[in-house]
Amino acid sequence: MVQPKKSTNPAESASRVAVRNFLGPIRDLWDDPTVSEILINGPHDIFVERKGKLHKTESRFPDEDALLAAANNIAQSVGRRITTDEPRLDARLPDGSRVAVVIPPCARNGTTVSIRKFTQSKISFREYVQMGAITADGAQFLDVCMYLGKNILVSGGTGSGKTTLLGLLCARIPRGQRVIVIEDSTELKIEYDHVVFFETKQANEQGHGEVSIRDLLKSSLRLRPDRIIVGEVRSGEALELIQAMNTGHKGCMGTVHANSPEDAIVRLEALASGADAKLSERALRYQVSAAIDLIVQISRYHDGSRRVASLSEVRGQNPDGSYDVVPIFQMSRLVRKPDGSMEGKLEPMGELPSFFDEIVDNGLPFPESKFRKPTAA
Ligand SMILES: Nc1ncnc2c1ncn2[C@@H]1O[C@H](COP(=O)(O)OP(=O)(O)OP(=O)(O)O)[C@@H](O)[C@H]1O
Ligand SMILES: [Mg+2]
Repeated sequence: MVQPKKSTNPAESASRVAVRNFLGPIRDLWDDPTVSEILINGPHDIFVERKGKLHKTESRFPDEDALLAAANNIAQSVGRRITTDEPRLDARLPDGSRVAVVIPPCARNGTTVSIRKFTQSKISFREYVQMGAITADGAQFLDVCMYLGKNILVSGGTGSGKTTLLGLLCARIPRGQRVIVIEDSTELKIEYDHVVFFETKQANEQGHGEVSIRDLLKSSLRLRPDRIIVGEVRSGEALELIQAMNTGHKGCMGTVHANSPEDAIVRLEALASGADAKLSERALRYQVSAAIDLIVQISRYHDGSRRVASLSEVRGQNPDGSYDVVPIFQMSRLVRKPDGSMEGKLEPMGELPSFFDEIVDNGLPFPESKFRKPTAA
């Protein structure tokens, strides 16, 4: 995982200590390296995620007031407030952890908090393969696509590992390019020699001064980017991203919340159409299908694992106007093993990508045989 290194900035470290102090009854969970997420549903209902699975804990806050005070302190530590008028908070803590809070009256269980802890471990592509999140061939195919500057959409459900994979892909950008990264709140730390990071800005208390992903994308187009990376595409920025992809910016990437590659591309279209009502459906579909080369679908499986479920090429449109999304690699049928884990493998589907000639012409070591469907045993 390409993630922020532990901060050596004294202000950040102090802030981390301050946040830890607010957590009181859940400090042990915060300190426990095996806990990746902490989910608080009111003062007496606290769950954690370990190895992708949810567990209820015995921890509890004395009462709603104590929990609300802790949530308020966390908000203040990042310069924000939670009040009945503004009952929601979505913020990144100084150490890179993410916190989302909703308080009553919107939260019926009482103050509801989710903390996605920043994990210190930095996973490389190789480790990602070793964890079983993708096969070596799947990873190598992604590497080939990165080298060739394919436009890639990473799709998956909430917390499925989209940002993690996007970070890993960014680490494979060939040297010598200018990369612009645009995010809502900084999560991606990319070790690259020429990278510009942009982060959105919320409106001030008077409701002025908001800078959205779409605004930043428009600015970045004037800043001579080679590749634009959008942390998460969830609004009108989809249109600018598609247009950037279609106007010579090769190798752009973004993530989108969707449960299948088909849903992902339809969602991208819907988001883009919300940005410009005047664009005809036909024109937009054409642009979307021309823009996206590859969709990487990630899924969370019942055993808690997060794995790449398919790598699909977008080839254009079918005669009926739907998108022609062709799986090149896809997860085989999953079989539950006695220990509860799910066994399955990303397998080639017997489809050559339409850009196979580019793989050959660039002398990339990914032979045609790797796309051949495995023969049944
Ligand atoms: N392949 C993997 N195996 C195990 N854990 C993983 C894997 N990929 C990501 N994770 C962990 O899962 C959590 C969620 O990952 P990530 O933030 O990348 O997901 P996301 O899909 O971007 O989430 P969101 O929908 O909130 O944006 C993190 O704690 C991350 O370290
Ligand atoms: Mg994410």
